[in-house]
Amino acid sequence: MHTIPLLGRGDFPEWRDAARALASAGISPREVDWRINGSDEALFEPDPLPDLPKPEGAAPLTVPPAFLPLAEAVVCHTEPGRFHLLYRLLWRLQADRRLLELTADKDVAWARLLAKNVDRDSHKMTAFVRFKEIAGETQGRRRFFAWFEPTHFIVARTAPFFRRRFADMDWIIATPKGTASWDGESLIFDMRPGEDPGHGDPTDDLWRTYYASIFNPARLKLKAMQAEMPKKYWRNLPEADLIPALIANAEANVRAMAERAASDPPLFHYRLQEAAQTVAQIIPAGAGTIDAVREEARHCTRCPLHCTATQTVFGEGPQQASLMMVGEQPGDQEDLAGRPFVGPAGKVFDAVLKEAGIARETLYLTNAVKHFKYEPRGKRRIHQKPDRGEIDHCRWWLAKEIELIKPRLIVALGATALYALSGEQRPLNQLRGKPITMQGDMVLYPTIHPSYLLRLPDENERQRQHALFVEDMRLVEHLKETMV
Ligand code: URA
Repeated sequence: MHTIPLLGRGDFPEWRDAARALASAGISPREVDWRINGSDEALFEPDPLPDLPKPEGAAPLTVPPAFLPLAEAVVCHTEPGRFHLLYRLLWRLQADRRLLELTADKDVAWARLLAKNVDRDSHKMTAFVRFKEIAGETQGRRRFFAWFEPTHFIVARTAPFFRRRFADMDWIIATPKGTASWDGESLIFDMRPGEDPGHGDPTDDLWRTYYASIFNPARLKLKAMQAEMPKKYWRNLPEADLIPALIANAEANVRAMAERAASDPPLFHYRLQEAAQTVAQIIPAGAGTIDAVREEARHCTRCPLHCTATQTVFGEGPQQASLMMVGEQPGDQEDLAGRPFVGPAGKVFDAVLKEAGIARETLYLTNAVKHFKYEPRGKRRIHQKPDRGEIDHCRWWLAKEIELIKPRLIVALGATALYALSGEQRPLNQLRGKPITMQGDMVLYPTIHPSYLLRLPDENERQRQHALFVEDMRLVEHLKETMV
């Protein structure tokens, strides 16, 4: 019998390495005793793997692609028999590559069920984590903390969701099953159990307001709610103590809702903005400055896009910039971060600017439309092009930016920006790279939008277009320097 000690805290490579060594040595599942040794002291000093017999001409191990994601999920379950189950599957897969297709097979069904539990737990974490702001900033980044109690070892697995969603703040999510932290550069996972600091803070009030405003009594399904939110999640939710009263008043509220269908409460983000203003006592910047206009734009309701976007994403850069670049509209990440070009297109753009020798902080970077337009699809928000009406409404802000920045040269990144800046509707490829004089002494330079490069399926074409875009930017820099 081979005893294999594992920490068993959701670390897939730990099981994989042991399983690989055992299977390559021809050791059958019956000869393996998987021991979970997850005490706190043992966390960083796992016992070494025992010596195994050397494989003799054994066939290399292979598994169908579906096995890896299944095993990665199962390893995160707290079920003590999970390692044995996975090893048995691995062993059986060597003889039967199509085993995983047999959904009635006992091992397969069991593994699928464990994986489903793990996915469900991850899903709960994405829904029920509540960040609280910690006073003070690190290098200008706000800091947040959350306490969560998962059933399984899912923190490392689920943390990338929070990195994508909250990329612009520093955060720690502590749980009894490990802690994840993000500082804008590295996502770090620590397997040691975290501790619940157990304190409320003003953020709780915002959550309560939010919860009360989205609670729809007409859609109340008590059983589903309780199944979705077992006691341990409620305990850590600031809004939980509102629920009994909301449920108790549900019937009366449904009636009241039917009577006042036309006067819905203001949207959550307004109340958040207002609350943030009251708390921070924001003092409007001096009139006639870009900061004052930015502040005004935070409350823009000129078109319906403000209803679904998180916030206005205004332009940024020095007020004296002689070069302005205009994109289309903020994307998902820009909408959450409140800054233009910080998502995937922004990364491409940063690389192109760097290659062209343009320092991003010297230019004024903005968008034709200041709110994110999207279509919700499941949990994702799919970018949608702004229409003419939205562009026309938002031109009011773009014109203010031009008036205050007074750039000598404006680059239109893509067709939406070109239309917003000049009304031009001819295809971009007819106008790209051909400077247009604007308002007497300003020059408009049309080029592609950086996201065009992300959409090109062919790698060679992508490289070619990337190089052309860098050329455009070099030319822009040259034009700016030579304009009097
Ligand atoms: N695309 C844009 O046009 N602007 C952004 O800020 C991000 C993506």
